[in-house]
Parts: sequence; C-alpha cells; structure tokens
Amino acid sequence: MNRKRTYTTRKKSSKRLTITLVLTSLIMSVIVIWIGMHDWDVTKAWRQVGIGETEAPPVEEQEVEMTDVDEPRLEEEELVQDPPAKMDEAETDEPEKNDVPAKPEPKNEETSKVTTKPPTSSTNSGYIEGQELPEEPTYVNGILIANKRYPLPSTYAPGESAEAREAFEEMVAEAKLSGINLTAFSTYRSFEYQTSLYKRYVDRDGVEAADRYSARPGYSEHQTGLAFDIGEVNYEKHWASSSFGATEAGKWVAANAYRYGFILRYPKGKESITGYMHESWHFRYVGREIAEEIFKQNVTLEEYLGLN
Ligand code: DAL
Ligand code: ZN
Repeated sequence: MNRKRTYTTRKKSSKRLTITLVLTSLIMSVIVIWIGMHDWDVTKAWRQVGIGETEAPPVEEQEVEMTDVDEPRLEEEELVQDPPAKMDEAETDEPEKNDVPAKPEPKNEETSKVTTKPPTSSTNSGYIEGQELPEEPTYVNGILIANKRYPLPSTYAPGESAEAREAFEEMVAEAKLSGINLTAFSTYRSFEYQTSLYKRYVDRDGVEAADRYSARPGYSEHQTGLAFDIGEVNYEKHWASSSFGATEAGKWVAANAYRYGFILRYPKGKESITGYMHESWHFRYVGREIAEEIFKQNVTLEEYLGLN
C-alpha cells in the first residue's frame, strides 16, 4: 500500500519535473529567439515589451537652452529606401558662437524674380555640376528659395528671421494649451557653420549619404533664417529624428504649423522633388497665407512655385 503511494508520489513528481523542464526550455527558447530578433540587443528587446522604459518626464515651464542638433545619420538599410523609415537619434552640438546677422532680412514682398539660370543638368545628388554660388539670393513669386538648385550667396547672413520667430512663439503658446511644449533646436545657421556641419557628416557618412539629409554650404534653408527645426522640450531623443513625426507633439505641429505660416519642408515621399529625405522636424516660414495654400494643396514648396 505504502509502496504503491510512494510509487504514485514519485510518478507525480517526475511528471511535474518533466513539465517544469519543458516549460523552462520553452520560455528560454522564446527569450533567445526574441533577443535574436532584436539584433542580440537585450535593451532593445526589453524596450519593445515596455520593460526598462522610463516614464515620460512631466511637461514643465523651463528655460530651454538653444542648441544646434546634428542631422541624423543614415543607417545602412535606409540608404536603399526612399524615403528612409527610421533615422538615428540626434546628437546635440554646442550652439554656434558669433553668428551675428550681417545684414537685415529681406522682405518676402521683394521683387519676384529668378536670378539664377534655370538648372539644366542635375547630378544624382540633385546638385548642378559646377554651379557657382550666386551674388544674390533667389526669389520666386516673392518667396525666397534655397534648395539644391537655387543656392544662396556665401555672404548672405540675415540671422534668424524676427517675423518667423514671432510666429513660432505664437505657435508655442497655443501648443502649450494642449500640453505640448515646443522648442526650436536649430534655426539660423551661417554659411561657415553649415560648412563645418556638412563636412562633419561627409566624414561620418560619406558624400552620397550626407547629401540626402544635410545641405552643402550655400544651399541650406537654415542660412535664410526662415527654417526652424522643431522639437519638444525634454524629449531630445526625438530631435532631428523621424520618431518626432509619430509623437503627439510632432503630429500637432504637422497639423497646425501652417496656421502660423510654417510648412513642412521635406515631406515623406518627395525626396526626388525637394532633394532631401523626409524631415518631420524641419519647418520653413513662408507666411500664413502661402503656408495655408501649400498645406491645403498638399504640395512641396518646389511644386507650389513650379520649380520641380
Ligand atoms: N537638413 C537640411 C536639409 C539642411 O541641412 O539644411
Ligand atoms: Zn532643418
């Protein structure tokens, strides 16, 4: 009787042991496969299931130091996509010193004229081979244009546009009412600063890759003082990152910026027209009326001006 009970107990424990072993190896295999699916990066895998994710910091009133942020680095797989789906997190630079505006910003009402010859032969990068920087900036229908085919003079140094800044601050105030704390982490950049920035990216990623996200000196819209790279205070991880577009703040800006005169300058799927991959953070001030038209027509600045 006793022997039978002992036999039954042993059989039960052995069954339990087998089940425990099977379950353990099953769980271990799932963990190993899961980590493997995340490039053997445990943190990345954990983050995917929400482990180790820190709570979002509260939105607070605070002084935000203006810093310039690098453009993102292209990951290898992104180089073959159009547009790239994901970019690296931004690296923060020291703000440029001594960027003193050299001459006042020209008004958009200035003469509507194209001062450079229409481009004829573009290279793969979108630049015109052998093109020299002009003596004057180009206005089309009263709108200052800076892109790969319409560069700026190297001496053009208007500083940050006061009009654009004022409009931006209005946008910041309204976004705050929705609990969104916006900041502009990069606005005006001098020709010299863009020179060093672009060189840094070329050294890091090569010309071909850098040309997709960083303008060559003389070709950056930041040199007009009208481009604002927008992000959210306390969320530097989304600055100059495609992830910004998926955040509440990014969605808010994308939907509302036009009401303050800003347009999303490099939209998704328009790289062949704008010359740059999608930048969910880069906005260009064009004034309210034109911004509204461009937004409603859902076109790029190039398309709006008939430059594509
Ligand atoms: N990231 C934009 C294209 C610039 O460098 O001006
Ligand atoms: Zn920008």
